[in-house]
This record gives sequence, structure tokens and C-alpha cells, in this order.
Amino acid sequence: MPFAGRHVVLGVSGGIACYKSCILARRLTEACATVDVALTAAATEFVRPLTFEALTGRPVLTSLWERGRALAHIDLAKHPDLIILAPATANTLARCAMGMADDLLTALLLARADRPVLAAPAMNDAMYANPATTANITALTARGWHFVGPEIGALAEGPSERPGRMSEPDVIFAAAERLRDSRTDARAPRPGARDYEPLERSDGVRAGGGGARARRRRRPRQRADRAHATGGSRDDPRRDDGRDAARTRVPRP
Ligand SMILES: Cc1cc2nc3c(=O)[nH]c(=O)nc-3n(C[C@H](O)[C@H](O)[C@H](O)COP(=O)(O)O)c2cc1C
Repeated sequence: MPFAGRHVVLGVSGGIACYKSCILARRLTEACATVDVALTAAATEFVRPLTFEALTGRPVLTSLWERGRALAHIDLAKHPDLIILAPATANTLARCAMGMADDLLTALLLARADRPVLAAPAMNDAMYANPATTANITALTARGWHFVGPEIGALAEGPSERPGRMSEPDVIFAAAERLRDSRTDARAPRPGARDYEPLERSDGVRAGGGGARARRRRRPRQRADRAHATGGSRDDPRRDDGRDAARTRVPRP
């Protein structure tokens, strides 16, 4: 069983894709993971905590202020093998990028120091394309977060030809499996956003945001920035530190 003996926290923020997180919770539990679910207040508007409780067989966390669980957010930041944030709303990504900790889920994510976080953004395509969201994802990527999706496909409000739709539970599960054994050290120097380009791989995992069009748009500036930042050296150790299986960089031309 791929997650036997593993402890996973599933953070769920408030987007329409919350229903898919129920399936993800089920998949992880079936794979023998111990799954603790933390919901934002908005997420509880979409899916009741009871649903996750029934799926995981464990109490669900929704508030910093629950009696008898005062330090749950610190415990759940330190010990689990992996934290998955799915869906990752624009709002929660922004709060995490800012270092805010004003609810249980953001406090937990801020206290997460040296082990991986995998986020599956899900939002309206314009929200995802907004430079504010791109900047937030770029900042979190530089701090060691991993991202899977979003994908192009139908959104709640109708068809879309731009990324925004959350990856399917199986795709997130596969990304989680790849990160299961990895540890990232958020304190170690990480490549800045300009040092690599995000790349969609066939397995759906990528570092940073933006679709193919966004990458094409960014490329000329990144080249210039790179030359500036690295002095044009091809031996810059930041190019590939080999630590993150899921972090993908495009070979430099
Ligand atoms: C029906 C509905 C669907 C929503 N879907 C999304 C979504 O998919 N992604 C997103 O970022 N926000 C979505 N929102 C907005 C968030 O719920 C809102 O920004 C909320 O403050 C998020 O809080 P949280 O990040 O603390 O969970 C939706 C709101 C509504 C009413």
C-alpha cells in the first residue's frame, strides 16, 4: 500500500472543487494513509466536516479555537509526511504567500518548515491568470511548495480554454505519491522564480504557475534576468539541485 504508515494532512480551502477533495481523501485512506483534514471556514460552506470525518475515520479540524486541540495546528505542521492543499483557493494562496496565519489552515501551513507541501490550485481562469495569483504561486514555489495543475477544462461557470480547473483526484494522488518520501528544506537557498521556467510534465506536476502561453510571454524577460542574475554562467548550482523530484526545470538553451 503506497501510503502505509504515512501521515498526510489534507488542507481544504473554499472552492467549488471541494467535492473532489472528498474523493482524494478517500483515495489516500484506501492507500493506508492516516489522513487529517483541515478545512477553512469557506470550505465548510461547500462540504461539511462530517463528510471528511466519515471518509477518513478521524476528527476534522476547522478552527484554531477548538477546546482540547489548542496546539493541533503546530503538531499537524511538524509531523505529517506530506501536506496537500486541495483545492488551493486564490485567497488561501495569497494569505500563505503573505505569511498570514489567521485561521487553522494558514497557521498550520506557516508553521510547516522542512517537509513538503503540495498545492492544487483551483479557481476561475481570470483569477488564476491575474498577476497577483501568479506572483503568489511564484513566491510559494521559491519557498519550496510544489504545485499540481490547474488544468484547462470546464469550470463551474462554464467552459474555459485557460487553466483554472483543479486537477483530478487521481492526478493529485500521483503527485503526492512522488513527494511522499521527499523532504524539502525551506531554509536552504532555493532558486528564485527567475531561475527556471515552470513546465507541465506528462504527470501533471509542475513548479510555479502559468500555462504555455504565459511561459512564452515570460521567456524573453527570463533570459535577460537570468543572464543578469547568473552572469550567463551555465554552471550555476541553482539550476538543478536535484533535491525535489517534483520540481521541474526546463533545460537552458
Ligand atoms: C460558489 C462559489 C464558488 C467559489 N469557487 C472558488 C474557487 O474555485 N476558487 C477560489 O479561489 N475561490 C472560489 N470562491 C471564492 C472563495 O470561496 C472565497 O475567496 C473565500 O474567501 C475563500 O476562502 P478560503 O481561502 O479561506 O477558503 C468561490 C465562491 C463561491 C461563492
